[in-house]
Amino acid sequence: MTDYVKTEVVAGIMTLTLARPDKKNALSSAMYSALSDGLERAEKDPAIRVVVFQGDGDSFTAGNDLADFAAQAGKKDRGENQAGRFIRNLGKATKPLIAAVQGNAVGVGTTMLLHCDLVFLAETARLTTPFVNLALVPEAASSLLLPARIGHVRAYAMFALGEPLDAASALSCGLANAVVPVAELRSRARAAAEALTKRPPGALSHTKALMRNVEAIAAQIDRESVIFGERLQTAEAREAFTAFAERRPPDFSSAAG
Ligand code: COA
Repeated sequence: MTDYVKTEVVAGIMTLTLARPDKKNALSSAMYSALSDGLERAEKDPAIRVVVFQGDGDSFTAGNDLADFAAQAGKKDRGENQAGRFIRNLGKATKPLIAAVQGNAVGVGTTMLLHCDLVFLAETARLTTPFVNLALVPEAASSLLLPARIGHVRAYAMFALGEPLDAASALSCGLANAVVPVAELRSRARAAAEALTKRPPGALSHTKALMRNVEAIAAQIDRESVIFGERLQTAEAREAFTAFAERRPPDFSSAAG
């Protein structure tokens, strides 16, 4: 159980709100678990027609909790991986997913948008996937989906150089439907969700299935997660997490592997 994810269902719309604003909504294991519980419930309950993701505070999410990564890095057996469970649930979701994103969307905060069917960005949105800076590799099938969406070179610059996309660039790359003032973000996402609740659910789920190669997505998630798990155990990754905790730039001059 966690208070850091608020789950609300009103009029066929499940809203999952990340509510850890003092840590920029960094995602702990318990938060991933709550998000998965929400997605699994939405799949089973015909009364839930749409799921909306949003975040409290000035950031959508700073991505995976880096203290959690550092703790996992020291363990041989990482136990049930809640981040992996969430990512797999995203990959196979059949209901429409909508995201309302303001401020930083780091790592999975950006890669999860590739699984959303409608994405609304506030003018403050800043999308980053700095996996290589953390000595990691892309996840959530983003190594397949991001280059397919925005082209290899832009995706590579995001993954390998950590280059951010601001809201206007993300819109022009096809990663979002609209950029709106932050004050209008939630109402815009809500209006889209309400519109979807009035559409025939069978036609919606078939349309989504036709638009996504779920098997290829699942296979890519499997490939990525093997390498991601190995990367977490490397000296490079330990240096990256320690540097974040010590608020200094990482030094990869001696770390190798
Ligand atoms: N995991 C754990 N804690 C995090 C976090 C993360 N991913 N991101 C931010 N926080 C914490 C900070 O440690 C800080 O905690 P403190 O107040 O106890 O010191 C608090 O959230 C605020 O973060 P801060 O860095 O001061 O905010 P900022 O506005 O200057 O920068 C970010 C925001 C998101 C750009 C920056 O925090 C960041 O780069 N975070 C790491 C993102 C990341 O690499 N995620 C993993 C992707 S795979």
